[in-house]
Amino acid sequence: MNYNTSFQQFINDLEQALECELGCNVIATNLMAAMRYSSLDGGKRIRPLLVYASSSIGEANYTDVLKVAVALELIHCYSLIHDDLPAMDNDSLRRNRPTCHIKYDESTAILAGDALQSLAFEILSRPNNFKNNANLLDVIYNLARATGVHGMAGGQDLDLQNTGRKINLNELKLMHSLKTGALIKAAIVCGYLLCQEVDKHVLDKLNLFADNLGLLFQITDDILDATQTTAILGKTANKDITSNKATYVNLLGLSVAREMAFDLYQQNIELLANLGKYDYLAQINDKVYLRKN
Ligand code: IPE
Ligand code: IPE
Ligand code: MG
Ligand code: MG
Ligand code: MG
Repeated sequence: MNYNTSFQQFINDLEQALECELGCNVIATNLMAAMRYSSLDGGKRIRPLLVYASSSIGEANYTDVLKVAVALELIHCYSLIHDDLPAMDNDSLRRNRPTCHIKYDESTAILAGDALQSLAFEILSRPNNFKNNANLLDVIYNLARATGVHGMAGGQDLDLQNTGRKINLNELKLMHSLKTGALIKAAIVCGYLLCQEVDKHVLDKLNLFADNLGLLFQITDDILDATQTTAILGKTANKDITSNKATYVNLLGLSVAREMAFDLYQQNIELLANLGKYDYLAQINDKVYLRKN
């Protein structure tokens, strides 16, 4: 994916910050190697970019923003490792490389996910780690809530329970909003909470934008699974149909899925227009809608 200079600089700084957090000086070297393998040099880094984009609405400390962005990405990488496990989606390719449990082994992959999740919260709660800690507890709360049973993990459970079942649109929407939307929303909300001044009206609008973007992200993921090649995706194409997954494409067909994605994309453009100049978020809205992987 091509990024503008400001996004690219942020991604460069993020990669360095991730490298710093995943230092090799540990006793459990096998575990750390697996954590590094699944977190470094890969991925579009959309959630970190969202933290950056919404923190840019006001005045926020750049190193604080990087730390929250690192935490979001570590949670995301954990979710991908577990999502790929044989007991879940049983995938062998991720980010154009063998999945964690294939490269290492299943038990190491489970532990790598566990340890990445803990590391995210360790970073956020590390003593004296933040310059502006006024809303830090709120950030931790939002991320914890978005990760667990009320968010990503809960959504992943629905995904597994719904596999092979014909569910209705409300159930599908809820499942997608939890398994993928929750972390996307947390990235946007937590980024904004790092600003010196937090406006309740803006926060409400951001919540609406985030709900749309999270759903858009997963509908697009469903569409890409059915329309792109394995080489472009960096993960096995057509996996959802062969696994009988409940997705927008499988339940509603490709053209309805595309219409719904376009509708969410448009709604977000209008929401941002009402908010004034929120250029970075608008750029990410474009990227999520237009992406090819
Ligand atoms: C993939 O997320 C999993 C979903 C939530 C759909 P991304 O498409 O953001 O994956 P990476 O981080 O770029 O590999
Ligand atoms: C995954 O959804 C959502 C997560 C919480 C990781 P998918 O199972 O569709 O993600 P991919 O297609 O494997 O990346
Ligand atoms: Mg899955
Ligand atoms: Mg999957
Ligand atoms: Mg998918």
